[in-house]
Amino acid sequence: MILAIETSCDDTSVALLEQGGRCVYQISKDQIKVHKKYGGVVPEDASRAHSEVLMALIHEALEAQSISLENDISVIAVTNRPGLMGALIVGAVTANTLAMVYGKKIIGINHLEGHIWSPWISEEEGSIFKPLFPHICLAVSGGHTQLYLVEAPGSYSVLGKSIDDAAGEALDKLAKSLDLDFPGGVYVDQLARHGNPDAYPFPIGIRKDKFNFSFSGVKAASLRLISSLKTPLSQAMKQDVCASFEKAITQALLLKLKNAIVEFPEIRQVTIVGGVSANTLLRNNAKKLAQEYSKELVIPPQKFCTDNAAMIGRAACWRLEGGIFDSTVVASPRSHVEDFKSWQA
Ligand code: KG4
Ligand code: ZN
Repeated sequence: MILAIETSCDDTSVALLEQGGRCVYQISKDQIKVHKKYGGVVPEDASRAHSEVLMALIHEALEAQSISLENDISVIAVTNRPGLMGALIVGAVTANTLAMVYGKKIIGINHLEGHIWSPWISEEEGSIFKPLFPHICLAVSGGHTQLYLVEAPGSYSVLGKSIDDAAGEALDKLAKSLDLDFPGGVYVDQLARHGNPDAYPFPIGIRKDKFNFSFSGVKAASLRLISSLKTPLSQAMKQDVCASFEKAITQALLLKLKNAIVEFPEIRQVTIVGGVSANTLLRNNAKKLAQEYSKELVIPPQKFCTDNAAMIGRAACWRLEGGIFDSTVVASPRSHVEDFKSWQA
């Protein structure tokens, strides 16, 4: 079995997977309470919170499955890049130590590669989800907005990315300026369900560029709008702002996804991953888009959308099959140059 560990940002997560990619157990602890009062993640507090709970979660997972590290785990997979340096170090040092003490193999995984593999985690006994190659993956989270051509295990081309803010970051900023709870995207989604998406015309970013995104325009426009409106904002106004903002973000994301679908007509699968893929409008409109172009759309269940360890274990499976291991894992705040190719037409 694989023991997987994720600590790159503000979720501590531990998972146990079979070597084919079935997740048999996952336990995660978020840090919402730790960061809530600041309206954003405080790196030092994140590291401290990871180190307080990580070993306890590992024990809990092993105990829940009545297995032991000594006898039942063959490899430890851990996120070692990109992310908050202190937070990554907690996971990497724990994994290196356990691997050395118990004589286990170890694999360092890029967090974004984890998201790319998150749609292919199975749970039911006997079931294995396998991707078709190539396929298109849209990754949208608080820290990243990226469009990938997933060519083969370990071969990922970046078609486009946000040239400024991530989509989730823009949603979280809007939420903060509307005094909504943390993490903001969830509450923007809830309010948007009751608002008018055409109330305010927000920009959808660099429309002409085929694959890249920009969310700083919509963010600035929303801040300008909010400061021009009479305060305190009524609930109805907040609902309208959220619905209009959500519409602009969703349109921008799906426009570039559509461009990718048109550019690569041979692909049969499209995936949407990362925390923002929980968004109601994005999910609904992505379904319509996929149907229109006869593509299979795969969006993982919520627990594998937000940061989680199962996706890290899943991304380790092909390396395990090929006998590709690390001798020790080193944390790095950035991706390695060889992790992703940039796509050239
Ligand atoms: O992938 P994730 O858990 O962490 C990062 O790697 O960033 O994504 C978190 C992001 C946050 O920006 C949060 O506001 C957003 O996902 N989010 C949502 C929803 N649920 C979470 N955004 C829109 N609608 C949602 N329902
Ligand atoms: Zn993430």
